[in-house]
Amino acid sequence: MKTLFDYLKEAEEKKVAVGHFNISDLVALKAIVNAAKELNVPIMIGTSEGERDFIGEHQAAALVKSLREEFNYPIFLNADHTHSLEKVKIAAQAGYDEILFDGGALPFEENVKQTKQAIEIAKSINPDVYIEGELGYIGSSSEIISEIPAGAAVQIAQLTTKEEAAQFVSETKVDFLAPAVGNLHGMLKDVPNPRLNIERIREIKGAVGIPLVLHGGSGTADDDFLAAIDAGVNVIHINTEIRLAWRKGIEAGLKADPDEIAPYKIFPPALEAVQAAVSARLKLFNKLVTLPSANNQ
Ligand code: G3H
Ligand code: ZN
Repeated sequence: MKTLFDYLKEAEEKKVAVGHFNISDLVALKAIVNAAKELNVPIMIGTSEGERDFIGEHQAAALVKSLREEFNYPIFLNADHTHSLEKVKIAAQAGYDEILFDGGALPFEENVKQTKQAIEIAKSINPDVYIEGELGYIGSSSEIISEIPAGAAVQIAQLTTKEEAAQFVSETKVDFLAPAVGNLHGMLKDVPNPRLNIERIREIKGAVGIPLVLHGGSGTADDDFLAAIDAGVNVIHINTEIRLAWRKGIEAGLKADPDEIAPYKIFPPALEAVQAAVSARLKLFNKLVTLPSANNQ
């Protein structure tokens, strides 16, 4: 089977992006896989430190591996937002395909230092594991938020520059880069999320030439996604939107029959809601839909 890197190169050539979705449980995993298989597109599954504390690193890796093998399907697992070197080690040992070492909130030199250590540790365990580095702080919670988190890079002066990106990539030798380009983790409650800085994405891509990962996808405008892909983004992360769909689905499942106690009879509305949310994003990222002209300008 082709590697994750092959799929990202292919996405780059086709000017599409690979969708990356986080999971806390089997309901979301099944929903994401159903949506991807229906559209026949490669997929990435992410588990943050909290999510993998709940699922278990080895269990998440075993689930993804079993789906890849049973269906001969291009599904890859990322240890999302890993902050400690110990967690890097555990993810590499468990068989994750990718590890995001997130030093985005650290001063630049410290981020370079720790990212290099993460690469050394991970690749000494599995030389084939990909390491993503993060530049700039874009908030840390995949939740409905009432305001932009303190210190998050949303003003132009706080965004990742092409010079920083080039220096970071050349010093660390990361495989993929996640820059701060106006993106934000979580979805603002009452107002739309900030717009992406497409020009900055294009400049960074030109300066680094490696796959770019856009975090904080939830709540981003559809036309920003398409412009970001055309400017050089190869992977897009979505979490809050599917958490929201999951919760609404669980509530509907519980409400449908207050006496029901069989989990597999309560879960289907959650599975369907997550699948619909993921499917809509995958159609957009893989350019399988055309936007209505008003949203396309
Ligand atoms: O790594 C996870 C993502 O960046 C998700 O961000 O919750 O804003 O979609 P989001
Ligand atoms: Zn993220």
